[in-house]
Amino acid sequence: MHSLSQLHTFGLVAHAPFIIEFNAIEHIMAHQCHQDAFVILGEGSNTVFTEDYYGEVWINKLHGMVFSEDTTNHYIKVASGENWHSLVLIPGTVGAAPIQNIGAYGIEVGPYVDSVEYVDLATRTIQTITGTDCAFGYRDSIFKHALKDKVFITKVNFTIPKLVATVTSYGELATLTSPSISDIYEKVIQIRQQKLPDPKQIGNAGSFFKNPVISTQHFTTLQARFPAIPSFPVSDDLVKVPAGWLIDTLGFKGKIMDGIQCHPQQALVLTNIASGSGNALINFARQIIAEVSAQFGITLEHEVQLLGRINRITL
Ligand code: FAD
Ligand code: EPU
Repeated sequence: MHSLSQLHTFGLVAHAPFIIEFNAIEHIMAHQCHQDAFVILGEGSNTVFTEDYYGEVWINKLHGMVFSEDTTNHYIKVASGENWHSLVLIPGTVGAAPIQNIGAYGIEVGPYVDSVEYVDLATRTIQTITGTDCAFGYRDSIFKHALKDKVFITKVNFTIPKLVATVTSYGELATLTSPSISDIYEKVIQIRQQKLPDPKQIGNAGSFFKNPVISTQHFTTLQARFPAIPSFPVSDDLVKVPAGWLIDTLGFKGKIMDGIQCHPQQALVLTNIASGSGNALINFARQIIAEVSAQFGITLEHEVQLLGRINRITL
């Protein structure tokens, strides 16, 4: 068995019998799976192995980038195993970005995805899907539904307008006056360093839960009980509520249970501070889900992908 601890940023102790690196599309096309289960891994920054995994772990090592431009747009064709952090300050690989339509500070990747290329694992053919057909939503896309576990994303093609809108209307970025791109970049780094633990120092997978979207009617009743509850409008009927605020309000922030901590600077992040186990993480997360449900009538969904022996786990 091979160690998985260094392959997921939460860093729990786990092992797998087969770890296979793919650095060419032909390799993916020709690969015969010897186990009943497999999981594709980029940098493991949104994946937690909660125990030993009995399937094959496929590591994405596809690299390469091609830039071009015209008068209005930059065009970037990026192999899916390239690191995304150097481009946008969010950890992980380019291939994982469209799966949950990563985003921060009011911007998501979806609108900039022109198309996604993938190997269809049933037919071993190369397919291309347009950004529009990816059905991007909040932390959501077709890759979490109809194409879930059916494809190996090999390339993402981006179109980025040269006059891209800035993100200065979001939260703390709104305090900047006439900022340059580098002012925004520095501020984002500062905010992220204050709130998000560096996985190299403390194991974590970013936000553990998604921010729930609830009806405006439900929100109005909550607001009557909790006047300080923050919210972001989604539509006339729907409101997004920060899960971090709900968890914080219940007093979980900073709490430690069996080596797992609710991060003192950002309650939405769970961390592995003292050799926590998969069971400890699951128990802590379930306690948070139960208390949020009891107090606010909201069911939290986890954003991170949790893996058990052969299957994904849903809490
Ligand atoms: P992995 O964890 O390796 O994989 C994620 C999922 O995608 C798994 O289900 C995996 O099977 C599947 N997958 C991966 N690659 C492929 C592929 N090539 N083909 C098919 N399936 C694949 N996310 C945000 O949206 N915004 C943030 O601000 C943000 N901040 C973060 C901060 C920290 C400190 C951390 C640790 C995480 C943060 N995240 C954030 C979450 C994470 O960075 C993203 O989800 C990222 O896209 C995960 O990339 P990855 O390569 O590590 O994915
Ligand atoms: N809040 C609290 N207490 C906390 C945490 C948050 O009261 O402990 C409140 C804040 O004061 C603020 C609101 O909740 O009013 C939102 O907090 P924040 O701006 O920190 O963002 P978030 O909703 O907790 C989301 C993303 C992050 C992304 C940030 C910045 C999700 C699930 N998470 O967090 O993405 O970086 O916004 O845009 O949507 C990730 O997905 O892994 C991730 C880190």
